[in-house]
Amino acid sequence: MAISEEFKQELKRRLNIADIIGEYVTLKKSGRGLMGKCPFHGDSTPSFSVSPELGVYHCFGCNASGDIVGFVRQMEHLDYIDAIRWLAQKAGLTVPENDTDTASAKLRQRIFEANREAAHFYVRQLYTPEGQEALSYLKKRRLSSATITHFGLGYSPKSRFALVSHLKSKGFSGTEMIQANLANLSQKGNPYDRFSDRVMFPIIDLQRRVIGFGGRIMSDIKPKYLNTSETPVFNKSQNLYALQFAKNEAHGQLILVEGYMDVIALHQAGFQNAVATLGTALTQEQALIIKRYCDEVVICYDADEAGQKATARAIGILRPTGLNIRILTVPNGKDPDEFIKSHGEQGAARFRMLLNKSGNDVDYRLNRLRARYQLDITQQRVDFLTEACKLLATLDNSIEKDIYIAKLSEELSIDKAALKQQTEKYTRINNRRTARQEQQEIRRTLSLTRENTGNAASCNLRAASTEEALIALLIAHPDIAAGLFPTLSPELFSTLFYRKVYETLRHRAAQGYDFSITDISDSFSEDEVSRIARILAVHPREEDPRAAAKDYIEILHEEAERLTPEQIAAADNDTLLEQVRRLRNKKQ
Ligand code: UTP
Ligand code: MN
Repeated sequence: MAISEEFKQELKRRLNIADIIGEYVTLKKSGRGLMGKCPFHGDSTPSFSVSPELGVYHCFGCNASGDIVGFVRQMEHLDYIDAIRWLAQKAGLTVPENDTDTASAKLRQRIFEANREAAHFYVRQLYTPEGQEALSYLKKRRLSSATITHFGLGYSPKSRFALVSHLKSKGFSGTEMIQANLANLSQKGNPYDRFSDRVMFPIIDLQRRVIGFGGRIMSDIKPKYLNTSETPVFNKSQNLYALQFAKNEAHGQLILVEGYMDVIALHQAGFQNAVATLGTALTQEQALIIKRYCDEVVICYDADEAGQKATARAIGILRPTGLNIRILTVPNGKDPDEFIKSHGEQGAARFRMLLNKSGNDVDYRLNRLRARYQLDITQQRVDFLTEACKLLATLDNSIEKDIYIAKLSEELSIDKAALKQQTEKYTRINNRRTARQEQQEIRRTLSLTRENTGNAASCNLRAASTEEALIALLIAHPDIAAGLFPTLSPELFSTLFYRKVYETLRHRAAQGYDFSITDISDSFSEDEVSRIARILAVHPREEDPRAAAKDYIEILHEEAERLTPEQIAAADNDTLLEQVRRLRNKKQ
């Protein structure tokens, strides 16, 4: 993507990373930078740092890092060019048209347009004689005209060329229709409608763009719902149905249901904070999106076995975000839509009652566990309590732990101290496991360092860490960098990645361009930018950067001369591990 230098300069002049991040995170001054709670993971203590000076953010908890563009990409789920547009809008600028003129941006744009056109087409079909059956179907399911309009529901006609001909008349090519997944390709190579004779549910993102569709058949033919597959604009794991409405009605709480119809029925009944996944299981990305708009999520899945399994899974995904979780179980095996409908006028009030009495996830899990045992048999009671203590041991919050221990002790007349002791035992086991995982992570870091190196000599961590520090220093001090570029050869960098960064800096300087992280982000992948940002964030500013640069370069010369592959092979893992650990400690 080619965004002109002038435009990026202008954008940079007008925006401050702290202001942008400050819209999402409360930042407090700390040392040279700012600290706040990380928006990308369930952060209990502020471990998210922002450096306005360097234009980067870094989380010491989850390791997320990047520049202003990276932040907007991750936060708003945008690609590079859309993030630039988003920022441009904040700055009161417009991205020059020719800048966005790349094939992929253009295709995405066309897909959005085709989707919008298709959505309008489907809506119109609902009110034709052919759409009559679909409209009565929706009415039979108790949806009001206002609800049908609000959700943009429509109908895809039986003819397998209805939409294709319409889109063609609007100037869309067959390729575009297929890329949008609105059409399939026949054996003869002609596009034909993907959706036919279905009630259509458009899926709309937070920018109010139509990104895909779900289509429900009105008979018992399978599949019941046909959904848009992945397209350049549709990613099922990063969107939630009806979030564009629900996010404004959350007021601290979202209700998570399984189906499109459940969402619509709930919204119609006044629960406009309901969302659903898009025909797939809940993902971590979706959990983080939910976390962005509320503090509490109510899982309201089907009461059948599959629904309960999905509930248990969703709890596991939502818990680490720090969200408060409640579970609402609809009685008599109904889903929320059926429940509300079956109670007619009282549907909403009854659902409100269920909502109010929904327990939290620990209650829910303990209840599920309890149901598996016959508590009047001593051995089974012991087994239940053992499992219950294991469950409680996974809770981070010790107050929460104590509350449940007290409850269990009362319920089964068991000494509280004994339960507490047992729970603590399992907590210790869990902690040991975490420590082991950390060890494994260190080992992985090590092997990564090895993999990323260009030649045997660079297996040396001393060289790699020095290169990293030097890169951070050069980016932070362009004046010092300018003095070094003419004599410092890229060959001195043994790590391929740092060498590439160094070459980019040098090349830009030679052309008279700046090289702050935002300036260079075009030349690197998103992961690479994030890696550079991390380097900048974790390397403390040197007291005397000029002297430090000199020391670093000296070390690099030393290392380049001294190391042989044999020596590296001979170094034992513990020594290397120790070195990684020291490096880490220094960084924190
Ligand atoms: P359900 O079968 O519970 O859907 O599937 P529902 O919304 O209650 O459907 P109605 O009430 O019978 O109309 C839950 C969700 O799983 C996805 C859809 O997103 C649906 O809303 N699903 C289900 C599919 O993607 N394909 C299917 O064939 C079935
Ligand atoms: Mn249903």
